[in-house]
Amino acid sequence: MLVEKKVYKNASAADGRNEYRVTSNMIILGIDTSCDDSCAAIVEDGEKLLSNVVNTQVIVHHRYGGVVPELASREHIRNIVPVVRESLRKAGLDNKDIDAIAVTVGPGLVGALLVGIHFAKAYSYANNIPLIGANHLEGHILSIFLEESFPSFPFVALTVSGGHTNIYHVRGFGDYTVLGQSLDDAAGEAFDKIAKLLDLGYPGGEVIERLAAKGMPEAIYFPRAYLSKDSLDFSFSGLKTAVALYVKKWRENKAGDNRIKIADIAASFQAAVVDILIDKVISATAQVGVKSVVLAGGVARNNHLRGKLQKMMTKEGIDLYIPSPELCTDNGAMIAVAGYHRIIKGDKDDLTLDARSRFPLDQI
Ligand code: KG4
Ligand code: ZN
Repeated sequence: MLVEKKVYKNASAADGRNEYRVTSNMIILGIDTSCDDSCAAIVEDGEKLLSNVVNTQVIVHHRYGGVVPELASREHIRNIVPVVRESLRKAGLDNKDIDAIAVTVGPGLVGALLVGIHFAKAYSYANNIPLIGANHLEGHILSIFLEESFPSFPFVALTVSGGHTNIYHVRGFGDYTVLGQSLDDAAGEAFDKIAKLLDLGYPGGEVIERLAAKGMPEAIYFPRAYLSKDSLDFSFSGLKTAVALYVKKWRENKAGDNRIKIADIAASFQAAVVDILIDKVISATAQVGVKSVVLAGGVARNNHLRGKLQKMMTKEGIDLYIPSPELCTDNGAMIAVAGYHRIIKGDKDDLTLDARSRFPLDQI
């Protein structure tokens, strides 16, 4: 059994009570093994990044054109201890300096999540520190609080990753309403599938972006599914099918314009995704009447999206906040931030903590 401990932020450590205490700095080790990155990071007081280590498994999954869950779990088992050690080394800290451990419980691949969860349980037990489970999507939203510039509440968050495309109304830490979500593929998944179709390997986002920079976004008009008026949901499967049909014809030289290059297809596809994302986020801010937007998740690394969204937000008089690229893709730091805000509210978990393949944010 874990020793019952209380965490007091800003409480005195020297008053003799036999409880776990945090004076002014709460140092949290954050772990994320939800997909194909083994991540560990150390964050102080939910905002100061002390180290951030990510071991990516791209080489393992590349040849399969996507993540193979069983291989991901095995890689996490191999990586988790070295990644944590490296995060401690980079922060110049020891196990005894860690005040709590936060770990992603979902959503994600169950086998992969379980590696991080079991590690975190053992670490918490061995070091006699609190264990706290965190929602991966909440982590993506809260990654912005690791930056110098972050919004005040309320704001709209657009999280675009390999598994999710969601719009949230964020009223405070732990206070989220889902305004829209993808009805089929996530935006990052669409990037990955189009990259696979074009034989560009995995993951697709970065390679499509690089290729798109050499192409013309208006070369081909791919359909943008805006769904019903006022809907903040997304659908990328029609776009994916339209690109697949086009590529088939293009490969058979029947596309109608033999000047079209693979870079033009990448640029035209990327332009369609970006247009849809921007349209929906602007509608969301109007619907809930907020003046700040956070863009997060792996696809938020995309420079075309970052640039065009910034332009549109400036035009609309909305403040845009985007984490630095390394905090957009999966990382342990965002999990430490999410864990910190649960802990200071008095939440904690125990050794029954389990993985959740689905974990909508409004269920936390
Ligand atoms: O947030 P993330 O690291 O993992 C998930 O939670 O899914 O996001 C990974 C996704 C992948 O689908 C990847 O192709 C996409 O983010 N991505 C990008 C870019 N970099 C990563 N998509 C578009 N452009 C990029 N530069
Ligand atoms: Zn993610």
